[in-house]
Amino acid sequence: MTQILDDAHLATPAGSGHRLGSHRVLEPKGALPQAAWKLDNAPRAYDNEMLCRVETLNIDSASFKQISDACGGDPAAIGAHILATVNERGKQHNPVTGSGGMFIGQVLEIGAAHEPRDGVTTGDRIASLVSLTLTPLRLDAIESVDVTTGQVRVRGTAILFESGIYARLPDDLPVDVALAVLDVAGAPAQVRRLAKPGQTVCVIGADGKSGLLSCAQAREQVGPTGCVVGIVPHAGTPASKLLLEQDYVDTLIVADARDALAVLAATPAAMPELADLVVNCVNVAGTELASILCCKDGGVVYFFSMSTSFTAAALGAEGVGKDIMMMVGNGYAKGHAAVALQTLRDHPALKDYFAARYAAR
Ligand SMILES: NC(=O)c1ccc[n+]([C@@H]2O[C@H](COP(=O)([O-])OP(=O)(O)OC[C@H]3O[C@@H](n4cnc5c(N)ncnc54)[C@H](OP(=O)(O)O)[C@@H]3O)[C@@H](O)[C@H]2O)c1
Repeated sequence: MTQILDDAHLATPAGSGHRLGSHRVLEPKGALPQAAWKLDNAPRAYDNEMLCRVETLNIDSASFKQISDACGGDPAAIGAHILATVNERGKQHNPVTGSGGMFIGQVLEIGAAHEPRDGVTTGDRIASLVSLTLTPLRLDAIESVDVTTGQVRVRGTAILFESGIYARLPDDLPVDVALAVLDVAGAPAQVRRLAKPGQTVCVIGADGKSGLLSCAQAREQVGPTGCVVGIVPHAGTPASKLLLEQDYVDTLIVADARDALAVLAATPAAMPELADLVVNCVNVAGTELASILCCKDGGVVYFFSMSTSFTAAALGAEGVGKDIMMMVGNGYAKGHAAVALQTLRDHPALKDYFAARYAAR
């Protein structure tokens, strides 16, 4: 039997919004929040929503780099830029990169019909695990901008929909460290799923947040018979030293991943048969072809980077005749927050590095 679903059937109950948040969309009507230009960021929770006081935004790295470059690296100008975007759109959705980030804050109100996740109650501090590109956000003030981490202290409120995911902040890690890890939780979780014993894994942008967690996770998965190769733009950085000292990588290639031929030239020595899995963790555009050239036929490239162009990847692979699987960087995988935090806990040296770099100074 054919069932016809018209507007009357799809209407949400009084007091509740749509579980995916479409009731918050101001422009264009009918869109879902991520695709929308502008959201209603009013700080009142519908029955199936949660209202949070926002303390810190973690702007995703591709977006933060673009904003920082546009503002000459000036923290005050970066703050003003973010405030202007949020005032205009009701969400932190960078119109240039199309990406967002996530927030940490405190639960102020849980609607009567909202079933809290993770046993969360009013007053708890949580990290949002959905993108700021779809999160209704209202900012009263920007308090400070950390240009080295992309973390922005703010005063404001945010709404999480019924479908929104979030996690209670762990007790055993500094809040800013947890924020840095949870922002990129999808990367180590996907590596854990995809990498198999004995395989070769290549991580591009290996010395950033997601890159380091991916290398540590890849090392665990491929085991002693496998191989992990990292690609970093500069030699001798503390993160590069950590990768080598802790054996997270067998080989470190120092190359600009935008230079596909330079990367290709380095592969025979580092991974003669190329990689079964390539994980792209960079925060700049133009690295699709290097990722593709590092991957063997039948392998997988996981484009975690938000600077990835779908057309450059698809046409690039076709152009060089590579029969590979390419995964769009879905930042969500079931249990990803737990996997990412556990990766840090299992690797004390990595935990120390994150603490030194990301814990509030
Ligand atoms: N899929 C998702 O859900 C999701 C979620 C969060 C973030 N992201 C995206 O994932 C990417 C990585 O995020 P992150 O937080 O891990 O960033 P990050 O900590 O800033 O790391 C980025 C790394 O890329 C390296 N890099 C930059 N240019 C390079 C080049 N030309 N060649 C080789 N390496 C280069 C950087 O090296 P230097 O620091 O030495 O320049 C840095 O180590 C970003 O695009 C971010 O927007 C995706």
